[in-house]
Amino acid sequence: MTGVLRPGHAQVRVLDLEEGIKFYRDVMGLVETGRDEHGRVYFKCWDERDHSSYIIREADQAGIDFFGFKVLDEATLDQLEADLQAYGIETRRMPAGDLLETGERVRFTLPSGHEMELYATKTACGNGMSMVNPAPWYDESEKGIAPLRLDHALLYGPNIAEVKKIFTDVLGFFLVERVIGEDGESEAAIWLSCSHKVHDIAFAEYPEPGKLHHCSFLMESWEKVLRAGDIMSMNDVAVDIGPTRHGITRGCTIYAWDPSGNRFETFMGGYQPYPDYEPLTWTFDNFAQGLDYPQRKLHETFLTVVS
Ligand SMILES: [Fe+2]
Repeated sequence: MTGVLRPGHAQVRVLDLEEGIKFYRDVMGLVETGRDEHGRVYFKCWDERDHSSYIIREADQAGIDFFGFKVLDEATLDQLEADLQAYGIETRRMPAGDLLETGERVRFTLPSGHEMELYATKTACGNGMSMVNPAPWYDESEKGIAPLRLDHALLYGPNIAEVKKIFTDVLGFFLVERVIGEDGESEAAIWLSCSHKVHDIAFAEYPEPGKLHHCSFLMESWEKVLRAGDIMSMNDVAVDIGPTRHGITRGCTIYAWDPSGNRFETFMGGYQPYPDYEPLTWTFDNFAQGLDYPQRKLHETFLTVVS
């Protein structure tokens, strides 16, 4: 793999920082890795090796500040920055150290209103296990929901046709699946990959810019997704959908909300696409099956509730 490697971090706003810390540390089971002078709290999933992947800060309104992708190296970052500028997208550099243990980031705004960034450097602090003869898991792997990694995000905003061009023409992503809109022509939602994963990011057309639908966390197995559902219920977490399976991506999933109203997903599964695969298409009249395959139910909240 070269170019853009993977989703690296998301910065999400919570209404009450202490409540957010308790939720993401104790219920979600993320590992706290730092706090900074701006009041931000940094987390990683137990099996992630870089310093942080999920960052929260307190604000009056929930939602997402930015979503960042890790790229191969600094030369790749320079090249992608130049490519974005040549395409007509304004970029700016965020200084190294602005995010703890993270190098310079190239920030840009998508036509959907979302702040995106690319970066090449983040301190590797390991996954808590040895680099030589490692154990398969350790204490943190069982604490709370304990996902393996931040896997992807689904973002809602306008102009996703333009967004798709930026990801496919400039950043090297490919389209994996799509939902066709009511007009039978335009794409109402798109799933994009920069890897072998069924999605690294997804977008849905929505009139309001910059909205977060969900950040998604990968679980190791269907049993672990069901265990996540048990933990949600034990902790009075507001659950949106599931446990169920998507037709789209074949992911097996639960959606729920953090205490501030930011939706998150715990999921497993999906298939492994290659860049030469023809994208799969879901028609508008069959979106219910794409969303919830067994129930074939068009969940109103999924379409309308964002942060
Ligand atoms: Fe998802």
